[in-house]
Amino acid sequence: MTLTDLGVPALRISRPAPTAGPLIDTFGRIATDLRVSLTDRCNLRCTYCMPAEGLDWLPGSQLLSAAELSRLLRIGITRLGITNVRFTGGEPLVSRNLEEIIAAAAALRPRPQIAMTTNGIGLAARAAGLKQAGLDRVNVSLDTVDATHFAQITRRDRLDDVLAGLAGAAAAGLAPVKVNAVLDPRTGLDDVVPLLRFCLEHEYQLRIIEQMPLDAGHEWSRDRAIGADAVLDTLRRYFDLRPDPAPRGSAPAALWRVDGSAATVGIIASVSEAFCGACDRTRLTADGQIRNCLFSTAETDLRGLLRGGAGDDEIETAWRQAMWAKAAGHGINDPSFVQPSRPMSAIGG
Ligand code: 5AD
Ligand code: SF4
Repeated sequence: MTLTDLGVPALRISRPAPTAGPLIDTFGRIATDLRVSLTDRCNLRCTYCMPAEGLDWLPGSQLLSAAELSRLLRIGITRLGITNVRFTGGEPLVSRNLEEIIAAAAALRPRPQIAMTTNGIGLAARAAGLKQAGLDRVNVSLDTVDATHFAQITRRDRLDDVLAGLAGAAAAGLAPVKVNAVLDPRTGLDDVVPLLRFCLEHEYQLRIIEQMPLDAGHEWSRDRAIGADAVLDTLRRYFDLRPDPAPRGSAPAALWRVDGSAATVGIIASVSEAFCGACDRTRLTADGQIRNCLFSTAETDLRGLLRGGAGDDEIETAWRQAMWAKAAGHGINDPSFVQPSRPMSAIGG
């Protein structure tokens, strides 16, 4: 795959990182969307993410405090042009600071759009409070509506909690409620049709994400993973799908209108049709490291700077340099691809 295939201009800018303006990289992409992982812990054990026994969690002393994270959010939003913040994990609802941090983000000006990616467990009870704190939208991860398949995929029997979480999010006005599905190679093509029916019925927007090599067990294989084409072929047997006419912009999901209605289903072909050329993301891990890509092998340690007494200017410069060094693409399809050592749960989706 070439840079042009990825939509990235072949000419790179060769000068040092700028000291003002937005977070730009040498290919001219601008990052306005910050993904913040609040914890690497989770109460599920999805097979494509974690081993059954869990992982060695980051020690509490290495996690950013609410005050440290609020400071980084302020720098990102007021100095670096971040307009959208998404809280992830692990499972962000497991983090005790969640409401406090959302409120801190919502108090910044210009006020960012604030979203969260969650597995939905415990969301029913907290959705109204999260909305009040300033949360705008949620994406709930749900790969199947079959309770047996759910337990096989997540290794926990919690489907009802997730469904209650979705209903709670909708009732609290965390709209549009989106459902993220990573299809299981064993059951996914059986799961996807009832899953879309369920989402249409409840007016949730389903987005099907190709599984990426970010599992802790390093067991991902291209041949086993279900690709976007197979998903479309399956759905088309049951639904009329037409491309959504709205421009896609930097959104990773290709949207399809379903059965002539306004309802859409999104397909995120991160592997088979990479969209790295339109990437607008910068990532902060729960232990205060900036990653310029899900797949980067280098990180920039903002926690060390924070705790070493660095001023805002110094932190801003380090963040700019981290993004300036962003690679053209994830390279999953290159023979030389190396999976990052952090699994998805420690990076944040
Ligand atoms: N590939 C693609 N998506 C993944 N997620 C977790 N692991 C992977 C993977 N290996 C998704 C979850 C959730 C979000 C945080 O990331 O399903 O929706
Ligand atoms: Fe938890 Fe999300 Fe990983 Fe599943 S994918 S184990 S819900 S962090």
